[in-house]
Amino acid sequence: MNRAKTMPETAFITGAAQGIGLAIARRLARDGFRVVMMDRAREPLEQESASLRAEGHEAVPALCDVCDRASVAAVIAEEAQVDVMVTAAGIYNDAHFLDLDEARFRQMLDVNVIGTFLPAQEAAKRMEAGGRIVTISSRGALGGTRFAHYVASKAAVIGLTRAMAMELRDKRIAVNSIAPGFTDTPMTRSAPPEMFAAWEALEPAGKAASPAEIAHAVAFLASPMTRFITGQTLFVDGGKSLGGLSI
Ligand SMILES: NC(=O)c1ccc[n+]([C@@H]2O[C@H](COP(=O)([O-])OP(=O)(O)OC[C@H]3O[C@@H](n4cnc5c(N)ncnc54)[C@H](O)[C@@H]3O)[C@@H](O)[C@H]2O)c1
Repeated sequence: MNRAKTMPETAFITGAAQGIGLAIARRLARDGFRVVMMDRAREPLEQESASLRAEGHEAVPALCDVCDRASVAAVIAEEAQVDVMVTAAGIYNDAHFLDLDEARFRQMLDVNVIGTFLPAQEAAKRMEAGGRIVTISSRGALGGTRFAHYVASKAAVIGLTRAMAMELRDKRIAVNSIAPGFTDTPMTRSAPPEMFAAWEALEPAGKAASPAEIAHAVAFLASPMTRFITGQTLFVDGGKSLGGLSI
């Protein structure tokens, strides 16, 4: 019997309670995946998964901390099959390089890097029939001012993605990264409005991406149709990563 015809594929999304992770969960649910929405924020997680179920989709809220292996493994163990893992949980904060202390730096690496490694590894162990892992890095991996710890964490995610892709390719597990540019989410809206406007003005299009635009690119890499693409980082940033100044 062809399993694909009888059961939907299962996609796990970390950071799915809001922002980019939520947009990915919505998009993958509408694409026909059973979605397991992983986050540490209980209330929005329950509300958002209930609203997807009300639309007729399979959406499971899964409270977890991506930095804690036991909590990640427990969520994955609950499911009969693991086809896709998208690691969108992450944090951001600002600090001038000369003011950065190691506690902030370590916390950034813990959530953004260890919090990518653990869900990806736990999912890969269960992908007996192959699968797809999509990490969320950032255009910020190319560099920037006042967030060296974030830049370092996202460059590490890109390196980790390539290394995982090499080790997992013979298991038919494709691993790729989406590197969003500036995107309109609760993370970026937590900045003062004048700061948000200043960031937006630096974008080639003069505006932030919508989370749905990022989710569209993730859906491409989460699809079984693209399983031959692996180890790649796709910048979804309106061309800002091309650099240069234009008149
Ligand atoms: N918004 C942007 O401009 C932008 C740009 C590039 C990359 N990104 C990346 O995209 C991802 C999502 O960003 P966003 O803007 O949607 O952020 P957000 O803050 O709006 O959402 C992040 C989600 O991750 C969850 N989370 C954080 N730490 C967690 C943990 N330890 N365990 C479980 N869940 C945890 C939060 O509860 C929240 O629901 C992040 O990795 C971020 O670095 C965002």
